[in-house]
Amino acid sequence: MKHLTVLHHPLVLRDLTVLRDKRTPSHIFRAVLRRMATLMAYEVTRDLRMTRVRISTPLERTSGVRVAQPVVLVPVLRAGLGLVGGFIEVLPDARVGHIGLYRNEETLKPVDYYFKVPRNIAGTLVVILDPMLATGGSGVAAVSYLKNRGAKNIRFVSLVAAPEGVRALRRAHPDVPVFTCALDRQLNARGYILPGLGDAGDRIFGTE
Ligand code: PRP
Ligand code: URA
Repeated sequence: MKHLTVLHHPLVLRDLTVLRDKRTPSHIFRAVLRRMATLMAYEVTRDLRMTRVRISTPLERTSGVRVAQPVVLVPVLRAGLGLVGGFIEVLPDARVGHIGLYRNEETLKPVDYYFKVPRNIAGTLVVILDPMLATGGSGVAAVSYLKNRGAKNIRFVSLVAAPEGVRALRRAHPDVPVFTCALDRQLNARGYILPGLGDAGDRIFGTE
């Protein structure tokens, strides 16, 4: 699998434009982010392991498929919560873990404050959800934590990524594929993605 997949779908790009627009209020931001998450889930699960099943339609017997691979979604608090609803909609059997991290505004290093993920995740597809991959510090820490808990098959889903963050994640965890809707230009001096969409947590929760 490729290390970086950028989703160039027209509907994804249309929605991303709404999220980037600073005039978009929180309630629209949340709804559009949720819709984008369902579109991203399709791409992230493209090679999901399935098994054949036999069923009967009202007319005759036929075969179909069901998901054979357990999935755990792990939003990185807070902003990752904005992606959970859309993923759960198309993966209703997925379990959900949580990782609490925030960036120290001075050092830009991640500070951890909460971890809760299901046990026995070695044979599970673990999908980390965090809209912003900026310096990569939070992403690297989230993947390291999940590997320590036994995860072997991890994917990282972001909405907007900076080249610096993609490089940091690739260096630390070359086995983890990254999915994003946009590879933006660069970080500014305060570690914000340009052009980006601002502080994702603040925009989702209206805490600016
Ligand atoms: C944001 C975002 C990522 C992190 C990315 O979280 O959701 O977790 O920044 O930055 P990095 O790649 O440089 O680590 P933030 O620290 O703002 O916390 P919040 O979601 O609680 O607002
Ligand atoms: N976190 C955000 O929410 N936005 C950025 O641009 C960078 C980190």
